[in-house]
Amino acid sequence: MRHRQRGWTQMIGQLRLDDHLQRYTETAPHALAVAAAVDAIATAAIEIAGLIASGDLADASGLTTGRNSDGDLQRDLDVHADAILRRCLGRLPIAALASEEMREAQIVDRHGRICIAIDPLDGSSNIDINMTVGTIFSILPAPDDLSLAFQQRGSAQLAAGFVTYGPQTSLVLTLGDGVDIFTLDRKAGCFRLARSAVQISETCEEFAINASNRRHWDPPVRAFIDECLAGVEGPANHDFNMRWIGSLVAEAYRILTRGGVFLYPSDARPGYGDGRLRLVYEAHPMAMIIEQAGGSASTGRERVLELSAQSLHQRVPLIMGSSNEVRRAEELHCDPLLVASVSAPLFARRGFFRL
Ligand code: F6P
Ligand code: MN
Repeated sequence: MRHRQRGWTQMIGQLRLDDHLQRYTETAPHALAVAAAVDAIATAAIEIAGLIASGDLADASGLTTGRNSDGDLQRDLDVHADAILRRCLGRLPIAALASEEMREAQIVDRHGRICIAIDPLDGSSNIDINMTVGTIFSILPAPDDLSLAFQQRGSAQLAAGFVTYGPQTSLVLTLGDGVDIFTLDRKAGCFRLARSAVQISETCEEFAINASNRRHWDPPVRAFIDECLAGVEGPANHDFNMRWIGSLVAEAYRILTRGGVFLYPSDARPGYGDGRLRLVYEAHPMAMIIEQAGGSASTGRERVLELSAQSLHQRVPLIMGSSNEVRRAEELHCDPLLVASVSAPLFARRGFFRL
């Protein structure tokens, strides 16, 4: 880990995000611009956290106000969070900015060195029930042709992160050199290092998927989940627990904390041929974070970081988390015979999940 200094673990609770960013500014040509952007996002996150914490008292109740350009229900807080982030980032020389809440990317400053894509309020269907939501961001280098700003491969990202607005407000960050988590010190109004060099275990005992879509899944996804459900009696040889929060940031935070595998696959519902999650401002940043923490992120057939988007709001199937489980899901996606051989005896022997 390049810019880390000795005694890093002793800095837990002490090291402030701005000091961490300050050290990083000396490491690479884009680093100053990236550090300023992360600092601006952290400032916005403190404001958004305050708004979410006040909820109805601040007229930020999670009420549906309409639909965004891609047809998703839009809540009042989606709109507020987007405005706060754009105000904070608007002070910086950014080349291009994209948001889930904007139809098209904006070219901001042709001399800017970086481009930023944001999901201002991820998991916003959870706002009105007082559950964790978040902000996701991806920072890319500015290409010569800015019309291609958000068509770069995920592996081009300079930094990525997300903020969770839950019992704690935490900022998960990778600057391409591991993953650190900073938690908001509300009294001091700053983020402090809470966990450094986060690592995801290779194996896991928890899976996350919206199982209500089971009848729409492709055979490899069914086979993978059937293996999880078969537990110690199936090929996985161990039992799994299941969690589904319905908020990508919260699922990712859980995986960074205790391992696990998350799937939002493609399915047969109209409009879900490429799953639900967006490549540029959801899957790419999550994939970078998960890989930087030693996990994997795949569509089932390809590494997510190898992909580049053809359009800003392009969707992508996402399977991420502990690398052994993601590898198993990939094996099942790539080998129909394996799916058949895994599924048939399971169904025949126990008679559950008959197709
Ligand atoms: O941003 C999309 C999102 O809200 C994610 O945070 C979450 O993982 C997913 O959608 C939940 O989708 P569904 O409601 O289909 O389970
Ligand atoms: Mn989202």
